Amino acid sequence: MKKLKVHLDRRQSRSHEICIGYDIFDRIAMMIANSRIAARYVIVTDDCVGTLYGETLLAHLTKMGARSDLIVFPAGERSKIFQSVLDIAVQLLDLGVDRKSALIALGGGVAGDLTGFVASVYMRGIPCIQVPTTLMAQVDSSIGGKTAIDLPQGKNLLGTFCQPAGVFIDIKCLDTLPDAEYQNGLAEVVKYGIIDSEALFQQLESGLEMIRSRNRPFLEAIIQRVCTIKKGIVEMDEREQGLRRILNFGHTLGHALEAASRYRLAHGNAVAVGMIAAARISQELYGLPAEDRTRIENLITSLSLACRIPQDLAMEDILTALQRDKKKDGDAIHFVLLKKIGFPFVNGGVPDDLLRETIEGLRS
Ligand SMILES: NC(=O)c1ccc[n+]([C@@H]2O[C@H](COP(=O)([O-])OP(=O)(O)OC[C@H]3O[C@@H](n4cnc5c(N)ncnc54)[C@H](O)[C@@H]3O)[C@@H](O)[C@H]2O)c1
Ligand SMILES: [Zn+2]
Repeated sequence: MKKLKVHLDRRQSRSHEICIGYDIFDRIAMMIANSRIAARYVIVTDDCVGTLYGETLLAHLTKMGARSDLIVFPAGERSKIFQSVLDIAVQLLDLGVDRKSALIALGGGVAGDLTGFVASVYMRGIPCIQVPTTLMAQVDSSIGGKTAIDLPQGKNLLGTFCQPAGVFIDIKCLDTLPDAEYQNGLAEVVKYGIIDSEALFQQLESGLEMIRSRNRPFLEAIIQRVCTIKKGIVEMDEREQGLRRILNFGHTLGHALEAASRYRLAHGNAVAVGMIAAARISQELYGLPAEDRTRIENLITSLSLACRIPQDLAMEDILTALQRDKKKDGDAIHFVLLKKIGFPFVNGGVPDDLLRETIEGLRS
């Protein structure tokens, strides 16, 4: 098992560990039970992950002597809403959960974001431990302390920064992950390859077969590498004042496509198109070498992530969704662009005609 330490401030009070291994639920339970995080634990999970892993984790925790309970909510993004926060809070009160307790978010990014949010406000805040079970959550959402719920007006509009008390990643959970969810996570892995280094990018290029077959040692190495990258970025810029924004590579257009399609497009596919668009814009405006752009497009295509922008997604709807991003983020639409693979930067504005041309060039 590999342990990474996330250092967040000099007092170490919010610093914590990320533990990564294969088939480690018993050890996760032991580490939680032996920690001084809380006197009592409540696992919060969705009904799909609850059936697969909820009772198992609960049984291990109980065996290790940690007083524990389980709360289950319906799977899916539709549960990431305020009503779920209220429902979970009421169940916690009914269980008699107090400030000496901690929550355990077991599941994908939805369980992580929702449980993290509840933990950050329940009785003014109790600790939250992340046990991510999707590739997306293992490489991205469980690390960094962002929590959120959605509003009818848009995704992730209510949220907090609240660092987890620990992150425990069991790669064996990926054995049961449906292909579509695996693909979503792969898009984020490719994103890290593009923004971090030529070396990681090349490792992905040469490991296509192992990625497709979910080869265990290869996945373990890649997940460890990506978690190390994310932790490093969060350590330097916890509140997304600057550097952390590079994690939005491919996401500016990606989010707009998801919203314009009313979330018919999967996140991974939308981000994949967004990454190709960002590479094309980078070549046009900042001289990203043609070879780098081709390699990015080839890797995305080889992993079957690329999708074209459907004809029925109106240009004006995409641009309106992009403008909404601008409202959230000051006076300009921020794109993360590239000088080379491994050299991202945040750009403050892409000419409208280039944006339109790039979008048209990616239509089916
Ligand atoms: N906080 C952050 O920094 C951050 C970053 C990226 C994304 N997110 C959020 O993450 C969410 C998306 O997360 P997600 O893609 O993990 O979706 P998800 O949590 O909805 O999980 C996807 C589906 O897979 C199922 N599942 C989970 N683990 C499984 C397993 N091991 N085996 C079988 N099925 C399993 C779930 O029940 C669900 O139906 C979004 O709400 C997004 O906003 C947050
Ligand atoms: Zn993403």
